[in-house]
Amino acid sequence: MTRRSVFASAAIAAIAGAFLAGLAAAAAEPESVPLSSLDLSPIEQGWGKVQANQAVTEKPMSIAGQKFTSGVGTHARSVIIVELGGGSSRFHAVCGVDDNARAGRGSVQFRIAGDGKLLWKSPVMKAGDKGQPIDLDVSGIKTLFLIAADTGDGVDFDHANWAEARFEIAGQQPKIVAAPVEEAVILTPPPPAEPRINGPKVYGCRPGNPFLYRIPTTGERPITFAAENLPAGLAVDPATGIITGSAPPRGEHTVTLRATNSRGAASRTLKIIAGDKLALTPPMGWNHWYAHYNRITDKMMREAADIMVASGMADVGYQYVNIDDCWENAPKHQDPLRVGPLRDDQGNVLTNKHFPDMKSLTDYIHAKGLKAGIYTSPGPLTCAGFTGSYEHEAQDARQYAEWGFDFLKYDWCSYGRIVAGQKGDEVLKKPYREMGEILKQQPRDIVYNLCQYGMGDVWKWGAEVGGHSWRTGGDLGFELNRIFEVALKNVAIGQHNKPGEWNDPDYIQIGYIGRARGMGEPGPCGMTPNEQYAFMSLWCMMASPLFYSGDMSRLDAFTLNVLCNPEVIEINQDPLGLCGSLAAESEDTFVLAKKLEDGSLAVGLFNRGEWEQEVAARWSDLGLSGPQRVRDLWRQKDLGARDDEFRASVPRYGAVLVRLWPQ
Ligand code: GLA
Repeated sequence: MTRRSVFASAAIAAIAGAFLAGLAAAAAEPESVPLSSLDLSPIEQGWGKVQANQAVTEKPMSIAGQKFTSGVGTHARSVIIVELGGGSSRFHAVCGVDDNARAGRGSVQFRIAGDGKLLWKSPVMKAGDKGQPIDLDVSGIKTLFLIAADTGDGVDFDHANWAEARFEIAGQQPKIVAAPVEEAVILTPPPPAEPRINGPKVYGCRPGNPFLYRIPTTGERPITFAAENLPAGLAVDPATGIITGSAPPRGEHTVTLRATNSRGAASRTLKIIAGDKLALTPPMGWNHWYAHYNRITDKMMREAADIMVASGMADVGYQYVNIDDCWENAPKHQDPLRVGPLRDDQGNVLTNKHFPDMKSLTDYIHAKGLKAGIYTSPGPLTCAGFTGSYEHEAQDARQYAEWGFDFLKYDWCSYGRIVAGQKGDEVLKKPYREMGEILKQQPRDIVYNLCQYGMGDVWKWGAEVGGHSWRTGGDLGFELNRIFEVALKNVAIGQHNKPGEWNDPDYIQIGYIGRARGMGEPGPCGMTPNEQYAFMSLWCMMASPLFYSGDMSRLDAFTLNVLCNPEVIEINQDPLGLCGSLAAESEDTFVLAKKLEDGSLAVGLFNRGEWEQEVAARWSDLGLSGPQRVRDLWRQKDLGARDDEFRASVPRYGAVLVRLWPQ
């Protein structure tokens, strides 16, 4: 043997020995990689910050009295996306709600999915429930999802632990990755150059009151407008399409609206119903709250009105330009221009220095054919601590009418202190009924929005006390990661929706909005593009009031596309005023169906899960039979006919919206 070959064979023996030893070790004990040892920074969750080896509260992790020194502490809703690349064989953990979550509060469902399939789920778990051991075969799986979902009761105290979570690996190391970034795709073609008349087909007003209606019309300007059979006392401005005058006598008045430009002409029927009812279709507009909070000024309101017209929003039916809280004076506030006496010697409410002249503001808004809204509380102070209407209800309502407001949001807030200790629905109804009566006596049509967060099942009596819409829950700004759940709750009480009586799940918050917590400056809303389509689709399928509450000065093409598709809005504004009902539901997907006046059916396919899924709307679930013509509403595209179902692949947190006509 040469020296070289001796050396070589020794080396081979050494390598073979090491290899065999490695094999033996691998067979005895595969490498164990704790979840908490990975970079956790890509994880997003509903509250707080994800923690390694402790609970989300930064306290030691414990489930039903059992302490754990390793694991990952999260908060629902959280999704941990782990790239396994097929390199892991098993996943072990003990999952449960942390003992630091207040007993009886917080409920979480843990779910594990691999490559688009649910592999395991826990029962609904609460604080105090024994941990659920997990020992799962994940061999071959490329992407694993560890999901801590809220269970329909909100995310409060949903402290979700993946205790002792670890992977057994044979190949590639696991890595936590961020949720996929979606491109903001504009699905809807731009409006045609020829005129198209949009907006409601029925419009309610009270006889003799000032009348204002801007015919929402897309198409190249200039457009010449006309209205045939307009009742006496009303006139249309041919250049702007704004109809003004005094509302006609009680009864139904069918008017033919016409719009003509160099490219073509359009006509449409509008039924003006003069009587007691207003808001015969869900009110549409903009509210300042989630964009500007306590920074709102007269200048911003005027700018919002300008943009509502310039952006084309008014051409598809947006109409109200509404001030929320913070236009009054406050006893104390960080902005000295908002501090001052609450009322004058006669008890008249005073505006703060950012609102020097309310009449001139509403004149400005009305001149564009738009309407103006205002806000107050039945309590002494509003939610943000500004002047409320307590003991000045009639005087304030008269003032709002004189200023020229067309909409009032009446927000419970400090009224709770006035009735502390009193119980029963009458206590809840009283202030709303009182203001409802007062508003009816004003010589103006004032749409009345009740804001008391759904107390006492307000949807059952909101109309009885004079309301046209009522908030069904708390502030949606705090629940933006739960829009599907919030919508399903509203669908469950959807039978209370009818013309002039609307469940209000709160404002559309897409585009640029300020974080609700801390009343932040506007920034990107944080929802995926598909989720924004789903948001609008849900609100349209529910026939919810459509108030955009983002920053008008930063509307981009994508946001406008989501807000302004007339075929989608038509679903919302349908004269039947029905809330879509739940036609089918599975773990992550559901189908809503809404009957429309022309005998067609709007159908929404929704996916609230973490990956794209196929969803079927079966005729048997929709109460249909025979072939149906299908139109995709977001893409404004005919899809041909289907015989017994419509199926589509629905993106993560997304929606597909179609309309079906019997063939
Ligand atoms: C409450 C309401 C919000 C908003 C604020 C204003 O929170 O629910 O919609 O009006 O008050 O302070």
